[in-house]
Amino acid sequence: MKNIEPANNDIKMIHRMTVIKRVIHWALFLALINNIITGFYIAYPFLMFGKSPIQAYSPSIGVLSTGETYQAFIMAYVRYFHFIGAIVIDVAFFVWLYLAFFSLKEPLYKSFMPFGDKMNEAFRMLKHYFTLKNKPETTRYQDPFNAIIFTFFHVLIFLQMVTGFQMYVSSFTGTSVIGGWWPWFMHFTTDWTLFVFGGLTGVTLAHLFIMWIIMIFIIYHIYTEVWRSVMWKEGDILIPFGGYKYTKNNIEAE
Ligand code: HEM
Repeated sequence: MKNIEPANNDIKMIHRMTVIKRVIHWALFLALINNIITGFYIAYPFLMFGKSPIQAYSPSIGVLSTGETYQAFIMAYVRYFHFIGAIVIDVAFFVWLYLAFFSLKEPLYKSFMPFGDKMNEAFRMLKHYFTLKNKPETTRYQDPFNAIIFTFFHVLIFLQMVTGFQMYVSSFTGTSVIGGWWPWFMHFTTDWTLFVFGGLTGVTLAHLFIMWIIMIFIIYHIYTEVWRSVMWKEGDILIPFGGYKYTKNNIEAE
């Protein structure tokens, strides 16, 4: 009887995402979902009920005059959760930025340089998406096309952070419970957004508009990662869970 070798004996497992990157990935996932939901509420507070202590003695009636006093603070709770989410997103952003340059295992420059070979490789991936031909080789690093998309995503996160802090500090009176340095620091780092977006209304609109682009990124990203897993059969979807994927290319496994 012929000894049939298994067809997949040349499949290798390669390491693609460190533990810290995986923690960042899922922290971002949870915090962004939280901030999209709470952000929609802050922009359009459709659930308004409960009496604040002042309204309890007011002759005016309407949605605000029903319910219990503690329910009047629903906006305060929603903003609280929005700020907690923002802290998670901002910390994740700075850890990502640090690792982009100083990660020992997968610094961003291994995948992304906005010129030369890397741009050609990114273009080859885009071509493959449209033609389904000539799949670029899998390597130990993110492919340059994904790296460009992920970098763009982090630029959006940065803009959300500075526009968010600008809206936050605009309600301060010049000091805070932790001292005057905190509002000063927020003004110092984010006042330029007033100039770029044409005042506080522009900053608010930019914050809302960027949220929509981030939502488009999330849909695109999940779609392409599922697409890659189905079309390439290399288990790409496993990367943010176990840190590994498979490859048939002859590269050094780790
Ligand atoms: C709010 C939702 C999500 C956001 C914002 C997000 C964001 C990101 C970012 C920024 C990266 C690059 C990480 C790096 O810098 O190394 C990444 C990688 C990745 N994500 Fe997500 N992600 C989300 C949800 C998901 C989901 C639900 C899946 C599928 C289970 C997924 C699968 C992947 C995979 C497979 C990679 C690695 C791609 C590669 O290295 O080739 N993501 N994600």
